[in-house]
Amino acid sequence: MHQTITKNPTIVVDPLADTNNTLLQIVHGLQKDQKELPSKLFYDARGSQIFERICNLQEYYPTRTETAIMQQNVHELVDLVGPGSMLIEYGSGSSSKARILLDHLPELAAYVPVDISREQLFVAAQGLKRDYAELEIIPIWADYNNLFELPLIGKKALHKLAYFPGSTIGNFHLKQAIDFLGNIADLVGPGGGLLIGTDLQKDAEVLSLAYNDRKGVTAAFNLNMLNHINTEFSADFNVDQFKHFAFYNEELGRIEMHLISQAKQTAHIAGEAFNFKEGESILTEVSYKYTLEGFSEMAYKAGFVVIEAWVDPKNYFSVQYLIAR
Ligand code: AVJ
Repeated sequence: MHQTITKNPTIVVDPLADTNNTLLQIVHGLQKDQKELPSKLFYDARGSQIFERICNLQEYYPTRTETAIMQQNVHELVDLVGPGSMLIEYGSGSSSKARILLDHLPELAAYVPVDISREQLFVAAQGLKRDYAELEIIPIWADYNNLFELPLIGKKALHKLAYFPGSTIGNFHLKQAIDFLGNIADLVGPGGGLLIGTDLQKDAEVLSLAYNDRKGVTAAFNLNMLNHINTEFSADFNVDQFKHFAFYNEELGRIEMHLISQAKQTAHIAGEAFNFKEGESILTEVSYKYTLEGFSEMAYKAGFVVIEAWVDPKNYFSVQYLIAR
């Protein structure tokens, strides 16, 4: 037997994309005084589609702001990063922002998009393989909260560049964010890079509107989590009896998204019954907003040094380039 390394390998499916562990997280979350559910459960096929709609909403400034920052500063970034990177993207989604990097970073060794949404990952990878035929693209279907191994690639990478756009780091609590960034530092190794999008603290009204859009797309996104859990984990949430609620918690510097029970009711999952009072909430997402100083301190604790932070003219969002020390 010999091992063949194919030129354009097919998708690597993480065999540990692990339903049991997620079920435990759901049950443990619902047993807490403040009930909570993991934000990763937003992203089933339908949730990923709704999220793409959020990104195009007038109220949701992060996506277009981050894209503009990337476009305006990509040449400076390229000078800092240099040639020959292996680019690893956490939560690649539609990979639309990554295309800016694929278009400009010279002599990329490979692009490894990692995403939890299997359907979206496969569709995005197909489009990329068509448009970047020379590039080795190896999608990994995985929950990036679990450690995953980097695939073997045909070319030799000069260094690794992790890409974590969208301010998804904000969906971690502060201590978990440091642990997670620490895992990325280990993965890229000393001298390796991280390009990360981080949303910034700003006027509470602007923030609140971004998570309470007029068309109700964010509400649909939030509620879809219960549909997802019903389908994938045989639960019986009465989705019509919950309502979207999001607000900016200024003291903690974070958006909180909740689902509020509209009645006294019971939901079942994995043989357990969970009772809801009328008005009781499930916390489905936190989205921390940072200051540049606060983020830099956090990144340092995780083993990174901020080399450059680019912002938009309104100081709404930042894209930062860090190196592992
Ligand atoms: C881009 C995944 C970080 O927190 O803003 C959008 C997800 N939630 N609207 C965010 C989201 C509600 C989002 N992330």
